[in-house]
Amino acid sequence: MTSKTVLITGATSGIGAHTARLLLDRGHRVAVTGRNETKLKAFLDAARHPDRLLGLIADAADWQATQSAVTRIVEHFGALHAAVANAGFASGDYQRTAGATLSDGDPTLWPPMVLTNVLGPALLAKVALPHLEATGGRLVLIGSVAGLKNSPANLYSATKWAVTGLAENLRMHATTRGIGTRVPQLIGVLRHDRA
Ligand SMILES: NC(=O)c1ccc[n+]([C@@H]2O[C@H](COP(=O)([O-])OP(=O)(O)OC[C@H]3O[C@@H](n4cnc5c(N)ncnc54)[C@H](OP(=O)(O)O)[C@@H]3O)[C@@H](O)[C@H]2O)c1
Repeated sequence: MTSKTVLITGATSGIGAHTARLLLDRGHRVAVTGRNETKLKAFLDAARHPDRLLGLIADAADWQATQSAVTRIVEHFGALHAAVANAGFASGDYQRTAGATLSDGDPTLWPPMVLTNVLGPALLAKVALPHLEATGGRLVLIGSVAGLKNSPANLYSATKWAVTGLAENLRMHATTRGIGTRVPQLIGVLRHDRA
């Protein structure tokens, strides 16, 4: 496979960072985003491929930051072949999703979770799709089993149901343009290939 340019949002730790390292090891060009400058710098310093890695501070829930990030990546690498809407989290600092339940959670922590998890993938899709059409690329939305199964009073789960729905709606949009699509279970993946 020829090398591609891939943007992964929220990739200074966790699944996003691991995916970024795998792609770099396989020879691809990778752009990662995060909100925390110290975490971003630590990730960039630890990565062994500075020539093929671009790090940007960009809040996935912010339209202008998302627009600027994609513009910057296309200017820097020349094209965008894949965009991964990975940034997402459950509010609260104990058991992964308990802080996001309507019974136990702190409502003041919910807005950034909802905006990152739900609005973030939509903003990324809006700005990335024209670039992905140009390259016959792919848009990947990171969902969760929490977006396929209900759990009691869980707002995080509701945000991931929204991701599942968005992936399906985007698939329908892409199909009307004659673009091949696929949405596997568990993690929502939208292939944005030309048919
Ligand atoms: N881990 C799991 O077991 C699991 C299971 C199912 C689904 N998922 C999903 O997989 C994705 C990644 O999860 P993870 O556990 O790997 O996360 P994580 O380890 O908590 O890492 C989250 C990353 O996203 C960044 N981030 C958070 N909010 C952001 C925002 N608004 N804008 C830009 N960057 C942001 C964080 O950096 P900053 O703090 O610097 O912004 C960090 O780099 C999420 O969508 C999550 O819902 C995870």
